[in-house]
Order: sequence, then structure tokens, then C-alpha cells
Amino acid sequence: MPKLYSQITGWGKYAPANIVTNYDLEETLDTSHEWIMQRTGIAERHIATENESTATMAVAATHDALAQAGITAQDLDLIIVATSSPDYHVPAVSSTVQAMLGADCPAFTLVTGCTGFVYGLVTAHQFIVNGAFKQVLVVGVELVSRFLDWLDRNTCVLFGDGAGAVIVAPSETPQGVLGFDLGSNGADGHHLMMEGGGSSFPMSYEVIDQGKNFLRMNGREVFKFATRVLPKSTLAALANSDLAVDDLDLLIPHQANARIIDMAVRSMKFDRDKVFVNLHKYGNTSAASIPIALVEAIEEGRLATGDIVALVSFGAGLTWASAIVQWGPTRAR
Ligand code: UT7
Repeated sequence: MPKLYSQITGWGKYAPANIVTNYDLEETLDTSHEWIMQRTGIAERHIATENESTATMAVAATHDALAQAGITAQDLDLIIVATSSPDYHVPAVSSTVQAMLGADCPAFTLVTGCTGFVYGLVTAHQFIVNGAFKQVLVVGVELVSRFLDWLDRNTCVLFGDGAGAVIVAPSETPQGVLGFDLGSNGADGHHLMMEGGGSSFPMSYEVIDQGKNFLRMNGREVFKFATRVLPKSTLAALANSDLAVDDLDLLIPHQANARIIDMAVRSMKFDRDKVFVNLHKYGNTSAASIPIALVEAIEEGRLATGDIVALVSFGAGLTWASAIVQWGPTRAR
């Protein structure tokens, strides 16, 4: 069998139509547009309405990705949905997505917080290069707004909802995922967590009274972790791909905070013009942030054939995940 590479052949994104600006948040919270812009770079975020769910957003993004790849849902061999905000604990939202798409293939959900999409892409890469599957759907989707305490200004101003999807398929020319870096430091997991609703604190009136049913974050600690790990993981993934910083044409970092991105880029002495940032429009969409940014980068003509792009994420766990991708022709046939 010839050596196989895994290529991204289709992509799509979805963001709810409902937009909540910083000025809207000023109405209900002790915060200001100026504070949020200065400290994070976020101006607005998309927030799902009642008729939307994690599954419907994933499916909407997938339809575009399938069309772009020139395949149908029946052609899919595997579905990986990365999310920490599924429709239900059980069944896995990946199976709901599989049914809604009308696909006939295995499906699983991957839960690593904001790094989920890159973990999923690297997992898809394994199935492709070992010849097990030919068409793998990877979705990063988050409906985090339903898990936020909208009275907690430390968290609710930061996040938004959305979905991004890619199709990964085999190619015999060297392109697609060239290398990666994955990591986890669970000892610091308490800095970003939702305590309630799991087996430690099953949902109860007490859990709700204590506000343990919401996502909580120690922003300063996560900030320190993020500024450290973003350059470190980028360099590790580049080394794993036998490349150096100078080889990078585009860096797509997890869209959490513009200050984190700026500090990391400075420490790598990387050209800020080669960094893609769209968090002002979406906030932090967790597992959806990198695929949404990737799709927008493509739409804005920021990626040409042969370009080397780094997808670099960090988040709950605490985890990190980076992949180096060589952008190829759109279809692997
Ligand atoms: O995807 C997961 C990864 N998550 C992240 O990467 C988030 C990482 N952390 C951050 O982005 C930043 O730490 C935050 C944006 C969350 C906070 O920024 P900061 O510069 O670290 O602020 P701080 O936590 O040090 O808080 C400074 C002050 C505090 O007031 P006092 O204690 O100095 O009086 C906060 O209470 O700002 C206050 N504050 C706010 N003020 C207005 C916190 N949130 C707000 C707010 N509006 N929304």
C-alpha cells in the first residue's frame, strides 16, 4: 500500500444568527465594552436560541463541509464530534449527529474542552494514514452559553456558541497533517471546570444552589498556562513535522483572548500579520474556535496551496493540542 497522508478536503462553519454585544452585556452585568475589549479583544459573540442545539449546529456546519468535499453523508466512514456541551450526557451527541445526517458509520464524541477539535483532527489522521477509513468527519461544536452563569462576569463575557467541521480524506502526496503535539496536565484541571452534573456531584438542588452546574474559571491561572503552552506546543508540533517557525505561513491559535495570542506570538518572535484572529466576532467558542477560524481564513484567501498552517489549542483539562497542516488542493482524488 502506498504511504498515505491525511488531507482536509471539505470545511464548513455555523454560528447562531443571534448576536450579543458587549453593550448588551452592560445592561445586566457590572462590566463595560471597554473592559472586555481591552482585556480580551472580544466585541460580540453568537448565542444559540431555543430552537438550536449542539447537534443542529454540528449538522449545519457539516452540510457545508460535505458539499465542499463533494461527498454525501452516506460516504462518511467515521464521525468524530468534539464538544464539552453535548445535547445530553447519554446518548453521545455524535450518534445524534450521525442520525440527523443520515450517515451509516461509527461515531464518537471526544471531550477535551477547547482542544477537542485538534485532538479530533489528529485522531482522524491516524485512521486515514493507517488505511482504516477514507472519509472522516471532524466537528468542533460548542453550545457553552447554556452552561454559563450569566451573572458571573468572570466567565460569561468570554464565551460564544458555534460549530466548525472538516472532512479528512487520504492523499498519496505529502500534505495535510504533517505532525502534531498533544498534552495534558490534569493536576491543574480545577482551574477550569464544571463541577456539577457528573458522578462526583450528580445534579441535585444542592448542586444548583451552590452554582456548581456552571462553568467556572480561574482566569489568571489559565492565562499563565495559555501564554506558556501556546508557543511551546507550536514549536513542538513544528519539530514533530521537521519544520521551524520560519516555515509557517499561518498560525491559527485557539481564539480565547487577544492578549494571550499577542504575548505568545511575541515570545516566538513570529510575524503578527501571519496570525489569524477572529475572536472579536465570536468570543471563545471552545472546541469550535479553531475550525471556525480555519474556515474564515480559507474564505478570506489566507491559505494557498502548499502553505504550512499551525492549528494550536489549549484549554480545560488542562490540555493542549497542535497540528501542522500543509494546505493542499481541495479534493484528494
Ligand atoms: O478556552 C479556555 C481558555 N481560557 C482562557 O484562555 C481565559 C484565560 N484568562 C483570561 O483571558 C483572563 O484572565 C480574563 C479575561 C478572564 C481576565 O482578565 P485579567 O486581566 O486576568 O483580569 P483579572 O482576572 O486579573 O481581573 C482584574 C479585575 C478584577 O477586579 P479586582 O479584583 O482587581 O477589583 C475582576 O473582578 O477585573 C475584574 N473583572 C471584570 N471587570 C469588568 C473580571 N471580569 C470582569 C468583567 N468586567 N467582565
